Amino acid sequence: MAATDLERFSNEEKRNLSLGGHVGFDSLPDQLVSKSVTQGFSFNILCVGETGIGKSTLMNTLFNTTFETEEASHYESVVRLRPRTYDLQESNVHLKLTIVDAVGFGDQINKDESYRPIVEYIDTQFENYLQEELKIRRSLFNYHDTRIHVCLYFITPTGHSLKSLDLVTMKKLDSKVNIIPIIAKADTISKSELHKFKIKVMSELVSNGVQIYQFPTDDEAVAEINSVMNAHLPFAVVGSTEEVKVGNKLVRARQYPWGVVQVENESHCDFVKLREMLIRVNMEDLREQTHTRHYELYRRCKLEEMGFKDTDPDSQPFSLQETYETKRKEFLGELQRKEEEMRQMFVNKVKETEAELKEKERELHEKFEHLKRIHQEEKWKVEEKRKELEEEMNAFNLRRVAVETLQSQSLQATSQQPLKKDKDRKK
Ligand code: GTP
Ligand code: MG
Repeated sequence: MAATDLERFSNEEKRNLSLGGHVGFDSLPDQLVSKSVTQGFSFNILCVGETGIGKSTLMNTLFNTTFETEEASHYESVVRLRPRTYDLQESNVHLKLTIVDAVGFGDQINKDESYRPIVEYIDTQFENYLQEELKIRRSLFNYHDTRIHVCLYFITPTGHSLKSLDLVTMKKLDSKVNIIPIIAKADTISKSELHKFKIKVMSELVSNGVQIYQFPTDDEAVAEINSVMNAHLPFAVVGSTEEVKVGNKLVRARQYPWGVVQVENESHCDFVKLREMLIRVNMEDLREQTHTRHYELYRRCKLEEMGFKDTDPDSQPFSLQETYETKRKEFLGELQRKEEEMRQMFVNKVKETEAELKEKERELHEKFEHLKRIHQEEKWKVEEKRKELEEEMNAFNLRRVAVETLQSQSLQATSQQPLKKDKDRKK
């Protein structure tokens, strides 16, 4: 068909298509929600704080349940990480919740290395995820993600300042996990002291360059509440699983001889703020930050450490294949070098052993010659002795013969003498 015909045809036959019905890609978010709900969620909380600071009580209060728990002793020689996983369900949403306790934190005399087991635990979870990602047959879909999404750092309510252990630990953790600092047992500190303590803690964190988790303010829906809450950090919390009757309602509270501290009363403590921020508003952001910020950093460092890079020295893109080839060549070269080194070592060893053997042979030979000489000398001596003895024997024999001859002569002589006497008598 000529071009003009085509033009005419297209003008005459042009139809305007309009949608016959609802196409439905606006249901994509619903599909995503339904898929995620079926899949379930995992959320992992790390509790770091001194023994007996109220970690387990707070977890029980937060999730309104009684998790299995055992009191830690103050005699742990090192900090030990103890994870426990629970399956929770609210309406039709399944949550695999892992609570990891840093058992024995702050109990050692030397606290220099207290942060190390915590850092190692976090890294191990990242490493497990990375290994799963690098597998040929990955099963990230049903992989139990154990990466820590949030670290609740329990600050002792001293009213003074942060301990150096707190600062060092938070500094070591801040690039690996979202830290939410909380002042524990806030009922043990007065209102004005608490206010000053909060300011002090925040200024110390800033002056020491500790990056704590900031509730995100880029999403309009939560920007306002999150920015207000950021100003309330660190949250001062009270935990309790005890129920006390206030008015005609049963509320969770701590009862003292002088009154009642209500856990969910915002004028008593920040527990509700923490629960809102952690569970209702920012749980997904905490999960996302863990994946996109902390895990990404770990992954990048780890892959770079393994020799992978995105660009070559001239900033040209460098593919995984090229990296692999270079690494393989490097590895083979190294292998060859090592082989040569070992061969050389083996040759040297053989030479050394040969020389040693030769030396030993020479020594043995000398010893043999020496013994031979001694033996020869001994033989000569024995020979001489034998000759001497033979001579002595000969002389002895001669003497014996002479003695025998003499004896026989004298015998003869004595036997002839009676005859002579007889003759004499006869005469
Ligand atoms: P370990 O796991 O042994 O390190 O202890 P923990 O940090 O889990 O502390 P736990 O929750 O077992 O609480 C220790 C004690 O502190 C218990 O007697 C709690 O009742 C008490 N406690 C917990 N939370 C609070 C609080 O907010 N205020 C006060 N005053 N006491 C609390
Ligand atoms: Mg506990």
